[in-house]
Amino acid sequence: MRTVDIITKKRDGLPLETEEINWFIEQVTLGAIPDYQIAAWLMAVYLRGMERREIIDLTLAMARSGDILDLSDTLAYSIDKHSSGGVGDKTTLVVLPLVAACGVPVAKMSGRGLGFSGGTLDKLEAIPGFNVQIAGERFKAQARSIGLVLAGQSARLAPADGILYSLRDVTGTVPSLPLIASSIMSKKIAAGAQGVVLDVKVGRGAFMPTLDAARDLAQIMVNIGKDAGRDVIAVISDMNQPLGSAVGNALEVMEAVKTLRGEFTGDFLEHCLNIAGYMLKLAGRCERYLDAAETRSVLLQAFKDGSAFAKFREMVIAQDGDVSVVDEPSRLSQARVIVPYYAPLSGYISMAAAELIAQAAFELGAGRATKADQIDLAVGLEVHVKVGDYVEKGQLLVTIHANDPNKLDACMAHLQRAFAFSETPVERLPLFYDVIES
Ligand code: URA
Repeated sequence: MRTVDIITKKRDGLPLETEEINWFIEQVTLGAIPDYQIAAWLMAVYLRGMERREIIDLTLAMARSGDILDLSDTLAYSIDKHSSGGVGDKTTLVVLPLVAACGVPVAKMSGRGLGFSGGTLDKLEAIPGFNVQIAGERFKAQARSIGLVLAGQSARLAPADGILYSLRDVTGTVPSLPLIASSIMSKKIAAGAQGVVLDVKVGRGAFMPTLDAARDLAQIMVNIGKDAGRDVIAVISDMNQPLGSAVGNALEVMEAVKTLRGEFTGDFLEHCLNIAGYMLKLAGRCERYLDAAETRSVLLQAFKDGSAFAKFREMVIAQDGDVSVVDEPSRLSQARVIVPYYAPLSGYISMAAAELIAQAAFELGAGRATKADQIDLAVGLEVHVKVGDYVEKGQLLVTIHANDPNKLDACMAHLQRAFAFSETPVERLPLFYDVIES
C-alpha cells in the first residue's frame, strides 16, 4: 500500500477500507510515515469525514497500536468515565470513590490538562506525595484490595492517538467529530473498559460549542461502543459556567473532599450523583434498585455514612499521598495572596462565562499552555455565584487565590468580561441537556 493513495482516496471523499486504515495506523505507530503525509491525511478526514464503519476501524486500530489492558482477572465488570473537559470539572475525584463505596470497583487511568481545563492527574498531585505512576500488577492489586485506583495513562496506551493528536493540535484538525470520537474511545477501549459513561460538555467553556455538535459527538461515541461491544451512556452537560465553585488544582481537591464529606450541595453534587448513577446502572448495580430515585438515595447514603470519603482516603493512603491534607483540607498548598472580586452592579447574573473564568485562573498559573509548563497547584478562583443568582453591587463574586501579585491585573481583566448582570430575573442553566444510550 502507498500512503499517497490513502490520502488521495480520502481527499476525494471515498471511504477507506478496513485494511487501509489498519495499515495506515500501523505505519504511523512505527514512525514510518512523515508528518506532512499524516497531516494531509488528517486534513482530508477533517474535510471529508468518515462513515460509521471507518470510525470504528480507526478506533480499534488506534486501540491496538499499544498495550491493551486486560482487567478481566481483576474486576467483574470494568467501568470507566470520561469528560470531554470542563472548567472546574473535578467530578472524577468524587464519583470514583462514591461508586467504589457502593460496591462497584473502579480502576481508571486519567490524563493531564492542557490549555485551560486542568487534568485529574494535576489535581491529584495537589495532595503531597500522591503517586500517579501506578501500573502493571500494582494497579491491579490495588483495584482488588481496595476497589479503587486512579493512575496516569501509560505512554503505551494507544500511542497512535498520541502521534495523531500532536499533529491535529498544530494543523487545525482537532475539531473533527470522527477524529475526536476515535481518539477518546480508542483510549477507553485500550484501558480495558467494558462500560463507559461519557460526559460530553457543551457551551462556551467546552470543546463542543453547540448542542447539535455535542449530540453528534455523543452519538458517534455511543455507536463506537455498540460496534466494539462496549456499553456506553453519553450525557450532555452544561459548560457555559464553571462546574461547582473551585477552578484551580488544590482548590478543586478541597471542593471534592468537602463534597465527599457531605459539606457541599449544589450543582457539583447533583452532577456527581448523575454521573455516578449512570456508572452504577452500567455496572448492573442498579438492578437491585427500582428507579433513579432509589439509586440516588443509595449514593446519598454513601456520602452520609462516610463510606465514599473513607474510600477516597484509602486510595490516597494506597498511593502514598499525605492523608492528613485530606482530613484537614486547609493544609493543602495555599496561595499567598487572597483577593476578593466584587460585583460591579446589582442584578441577576446572566453570564458567568466559563472560558473567561478559566483564562482568569490560567493567568494566575493554574494551567499549562505547553506540555512542559509547570502548574502552580495552589492558585485559582472560587466562584461564589451561578447564572440566575441575584447579587447586590459590592457582593463577593469571586475569591482570587494568587501567588504572584503581578498577575492579578490580567486575571481581573478576564473576570471583568466574564460576568453580565440583568435587571430582570434570569433562568438558571440546566445541568444536563440530553442522555444518549445505545
Ligand atoms: N480528548 C481526546 O482524548 N481526544 C480528542 O481528540 C479530544 C479530546
